[in-house]
Amino acid sequence: MIDTKVNLGGLEMAAPLTTASGTFGYGSEYAGLVDYRKLGAVTAKGIRIGKWPGNPMPRHCEVPGGLVNAIGLQGTGIDHFLGITVPWYAESIEEVSGAKAPPMIVNIWGGSVDEYAEVARRLSEYASANPGSPVGAIECNVSCPNVKAGGHTFGQDPAVLNGLVSAVRKETSLPLIVKLAPNVPDIRPYVKACEDGGADALALINTIPAMVIDIEKRRPVLANRTGGLSGRGIHPAAVKVVYDAYRATKLPILAMGGVYEAKDAIEFMLAGATAVALGTVLFTDPGAVGDVYDGMVDYCERHGFKAVAELTGSLEG
Ligand SMILES: Cc1cc2nc3c(=O)[nH]c(=O)nc-3n(C[C@H](O)[C@H](O)[C@H](O)COP(=O)(O)O)c2cc1C
Repeated sequence: MIDTKVNLGGLEMAAPLTTASGTFGYGSEYAGLVDYRKLGAVTAKGIRIGKWPGNPMPRHCEVPGGLVNAIGLQGTGIDHFLGITVPWYAESIEEVSGAKAPPMIVNIWGGSVDEYAEVARRLSEYASANPGSPVGAIECNVSCPNVKAGGHTFGQDPAVLNGLVSAVRKETSLPLIVKLAPNVPDIRPYVKACEDGGADALALINTIPAMVIDIEKRRPVLANRTGGLSGRGIHPAAVKVVYDAYRATKLPILAMGGVYEAKDAIEFMLAGATAVALGTVLFTDPGAVGDVYDGMVDYCERHGFKAVAELTGSLEG
């Protein structure tokens, strides 16, 4: 019997898998399609202080090896999330699967440091007032524009990133995961900024900036012109970023980017991940959750590992 538990910066996960933010709704949309016992956590779509419309359509486009999206973080806002979404998630998953819903990693974003801090504070207060609620950890998406700094993203400058992480840290004792962008020349200063700011874990990687052009119309396909590339094609790039980050920090890493089958998740674990998220694959194959979990257990059995956690960083050579 392989031990599948992992600890992601204080978040106890019964299985090493979660879902990537924005690809699994708010957690209950896939009830009946996914075996939730094989998810150690569910990561919800990005949430901010208020309702947000996202970008105009068209906002996604399939490409060879993946998807380019510019959804633009459409969401319901923290009041609706805590009042309706979280209780509904807990109830509906318990009803359908007959088991307690996995903890939720709440992905947050904002246009200013204050907005992030406010959402973190609200989540913390809710978790303290509702012991046993699914709210299990905060994942800070730092790949969104800092309105006060002319639209540069928070994750593009280590000093700004450090300020953001420190401010959120002050507001919460929930496990704090910082989700970094891959499009930086060297990930190490960003990893250090998160460590110094008090993060408990890192999430890598967010989508890679991308663009698709309709050559007949000579126009960008997406209304937003550019978007982010996800899916199978980004997997090797993501493995490299996880490998670099693992060698630069003791913080546990939640890895994502093009996980379609067990071997992809195992690659991430060998490169240094503590847990792995499935994202774009869920749009076409929600059953991948079960297949990846089973394949990881099978790999541990074949290679003499007693626990999935032993895979982390066990790359040879
Ligand atoms: C449609 C879509 C929406 C996304 N929304 C979010 C989001 O709200 N917050 C976030 O941090 N990442 C978001 N992401 C990025 C994913 O969580 C993930 O980091 C990325 O897609 C790489 O994983 P994948 O290749 O397995 O999809 C989104 C990705 C997609 C495809």
